[in-house]
Parts: sequence; C-alpha cells; structure tokens
Amino acid sequence: MDKVLVLDFGGQYDQLIARRVREMSVYAEIKPYNKISPDEILEAGYKAVILTGGPNSVYLESSPHYDAKLLELGIPVLGICYGAQLIAWMAGGKVSAAGSSGEYGKTEVTADRVSSKVGLLMEDVPETSICWMSHTDYISELPEGFIRLAHTDVCPVAAMGDPVRKIYGTQFHPEVTHTVYGKEVIADFLFKISNVKADWKMDDFIDISVKRIQEMLNGKKVLLGLSGGVDSSVCAALLSRAIGKDLTAVFVDHGLLRKGEGDLVESAFRGRFDMNLIRVDAEERFLTKLSGVTDPETRRKIIGEEFIRTFEDASEMIGDITVLAQGTIYPDVIESGKGDSSVIKSHHNVGGLPSVMKFDEIIEPLRDLFKDEVREVGLKLGLPEELVFRQPFPGPGLAVRVIGEISKEKLDILREADAIFREEIAKAGCEELASQFFAVLTDLRSVGVKGDARTYGSTVVLRSVTTDDFMTAEWTRLPFELLEKVSLRITNEIEDITRVVYDITSKPPATVEWL
Ligand code: XMP
Repeated sequence: MDKVLVLDFGGQYDQLIARRVREMSVYAEIKPYNKISPDEILEAGYKAVILTGGPNSVYLESSPHYDAKLLELGIPVLGICYGAQLIAWMAGGKVSAAGSSGEYGKTEVTADRVSSKVGLLMEDVPETSICWMSHTDYISELPEGFIRLAHTDVCPVAAMGDPVRKIYGTQFHPEVTHTVYGKEVIADFLFKISNVKADWKMDDFIDISVKRIQEMLNGKKVLLGLSGGVDSSVCAALLSRAIGKDLTAVFVDHGLLRKGEGDLVESAFRGRFDMNLIRVDAEERFLTKLSGVTDPETRRKIIGEEFIRTFEDASEMIGDITVLAQGTIYPDVIESGKGDSSVIKSHHNVGGLPSVMKFDEIIEPLRDLFKDEVREVGLKLGLPEELVFRQPFPGPGLAVRVIGEISKEKLDILREADAIFREEIAKAGCEELASQFFAVLTDLRSVGVKGDARTYGSTVVLRSVTTDDFMTAEWTRLPFELLEKVSLRITNEIEDITRVVYDITSKPPATVEWL
C-alpha cells in the first residue's frame, strides 16, 4: 500500500488534506513537522509528502522550519499555502509580506500555460477558475529551478513547480471545496506526479488501527462510556475488534431515551461484539434528581453530573482500569482547539469527567476521521444501519423535550408520540428530507372532544429540521398528508393528547430543540 505523508505546520485544514487524499483511495498519515526527519521519511517509504498551511511567516526565525534535505530525497513534495512558502524559502526563493495584497476567500486564479511535460499540477485546471486563498505573505521571487504555474491579480506566484525534482507549491488551498478544481490539483499531484497507487480502503484503516491499538495498549484494560450515539458506538466496535474483553463499555440508561433505544444499543453489542458490556439502569436515579426542576440549563447540569456519578459507581465495581476511551472525532478536535495528532496521549482533561476518576491515559481511535468516514467504519465493523445512521440525539435526551415538570408518565407519552412520528416519516419515505425530527411534549393543556366527551388534554409539537451543520436550520416541508396521518394516530392512540401542532420556525430565530 502506497503511503502519503501530510506534514503538519499548524494549518486549519490539515485533516481536510488527509481526507481528500483518502477520498482518492490513497493512505495518508499526518505527522507534526517536528516529529519526523527527512531520513525517517525516506526510511518509512512515503511515496509523496504534502506540507500543510500554517499561521506563521516563514521569514521569521521563530516560525516552524524544516530541513531542506527534504527537497533532495527524490520524493515528490507539494506545499500548500505556508507549505509552498516554506518550499520557496528552503529552495532559495523569496517570501514577502503581501501588505494590502493579502487575499482571503474566493479568488480568481489564472493558470500559466507552460510548454509540455512541465506544469502537470495545473494541467487539468482551466485557464481561469476560482480558488480559496487565505494569506498575508506571498512568494515574491521564485527559487532556482522553479517555474510559475499560476498567478492572481495580486499574487505573483499562486502555483509553482520544479518538474525535475517534482516539487510543487500552491498558494491557494486545493483541499477546500471552494477551490473549484482543487480535487484535480491534488489528483494530479498524487497520480500524475507521484505515481501513487489508489489501493487504500476503509478496511485498511480498520486493520491499521487495530494493530496500532494493540501495540499501544499492550494488554492494558480500557473503559468506554457508550452513549449509543454514532461515535461512541463505532469506537466500541473498533476497540472490541482490537482488544476484545479488555474493553469494558458502560451504557448508562438514564430513562430519557427514545422508545426502544436502550434495547437497540444493547442488542447491537450484546452477544455480537467481544467485550464486557454493562448496562446501568439509572432511570429512577435520574428522574428523582430531575423531579420539580423545570429550568432547562439546571436540568442539563443535573444530568451531566448524575451521568458522571453513575459512571463512577459502575467503574468502581469494575476495578482497576487505567485507560479511558473516547469516541472523539475530528470535528470535536477542531472545536476543542487542536491537540497533537497522536492517537493516544497522556490524560490531562477529559471534558465532563471528574478529577477523582484516575486514568493514566486516554485513547481516541477515531480522532482523525470525519463523520461520514466514522459511519463507513461502523458499517464495515458490522454495526446495524439504524445505529450508524442515527440522527443526532442530545445527551440530556428527552429532558430537553418535556416542557414543565418531568415525570415517567410524561416521558412515556412523549416516547409514544415520538415513535409514531418517526415511524410514519419512515413509512412515507421522507427520512431523506429531514436531518432531525422528533416530538416535544408541552405543558399546554387545551380543550378537545373525543367521542362525545369534552377533554382537557396535552399538546404535542412535531419538530423536523433540515440542515447541513445544525448551526442554522430550515423547518422541513413535510407533506400535509403525512402530518395529518401522524396527528390522527397520535390523538387516537395516546389518550392524553388532544392537540398536535407542527413547528414552522427555522433556526435562527428558534433553536432545533425547544429547551
Ligand atoms: P439547538 O437546539 O442548539 O440544537 O439548535 C442543535 C443540535 O444540538 C443538539 N443539542 C444537544 N446535544 N446536548 C447534546 O449533546 C445538549 O444539551 C444539546 N442541546 C441541543 C440538538 O439535538 C441538535 O442536533
């Protein structure tokens, strides 16, 4: 299997570069620039090296630099943004502050048509196209042996290359989708310039991870909090493949799950994956703590704390476990500020877990993957589609979907209404229209009539949103016939419900959840 090295200089799109390479069925590894030398690159057998962007100015002494021997290894190199400037600087060119000529965002780039055999990098890009720029410095003088392959109105060198040594650089970011021909640039570098083979599959990720996990853990026991969400489920399945019974997964059922959810999670793992699985039935414990609490933030806090206590109690019963596993995936890594990209690191701070829980190490085997890649791994490991394609479900569960006091009775009513809504959406084939859909139980009572009797029952809200990132969301245009059927079923089948309303507010101004 051919390997590509992504040498990390602290840019914000580093993982995206690796992802683009993986999308082209080529195995990519990310390493911090100061953790591998040119000799080690050669020894490891990488077929190509990509230098990432970064926030620094290459001409400052304090900035991350790299041994210029890299350019003499005979391995093709592509530098992106800071990476391109670093190549220019290492090869004897000049990098200057762009001043008012800095570029940010979508920019028109012109490919310089150079005669045959050279300039492969921009060969599949039209003469003018849109690229993504983000730079305050630029290459003002090409190093010897390099030719210019592209420019913009204000950037004299938007792409350059030394075809003899197979060393290339782009000032723009080919890995970002806004660069319309970015994929072509990366593909040309990988396949035409570096001749790497596209022979990597997700199965290889699994095999490589399993081996690494086994080597790193070397018999140590691991504890994992299994929420039933996609990430922790895939993490459990992967660890189970690697270490079997050395993994103990604790699934805390707080009684705030949707209908059938606890059993779905348990049956997905019990008897099908080799691991110790502990399901803690903590419904009473959680509902007692939540009794009389109506403020949503207080509820969230109580649930977070109780979760920890329950987890703590469970792990006390299990005994000595020194490694904690987390289903952190790449978007979480960016959100929490970038760490180093090793898979296992010393434990300093695990969000939400109490300091009294003593773990020497934390392992995060999915931290390099994006959500869709995590799903692919989950399917390959044999997790059911229902789990792998689950829509997001808030940690505090149905506690953020019951307005007013929480009780088991109310939760049961909500679970039924929610299940009917979900079932009918699936039956109507409308799941693809929405990103997240659920029912909310309000504390609003209104007059109704059922049979010949007047009733005074509760109101259920149906909420469905369509979104890419959940930061903004549109209410889903579900067919009226579907809504009508759901409303009829809910009012017929659930005695206490007399009214069903559909939420037609987008985010903003509303949020997805009601609490
Ligand atoms: P909002 O309501 O903020 O929701 O528009 C955006 C997304 O986040 C989910 N959500 C939560 N997830 N803990 C979670 O783990 C929470 O407290 C929480 N609140 C909202 C929500 O379901 C939606 O997908």
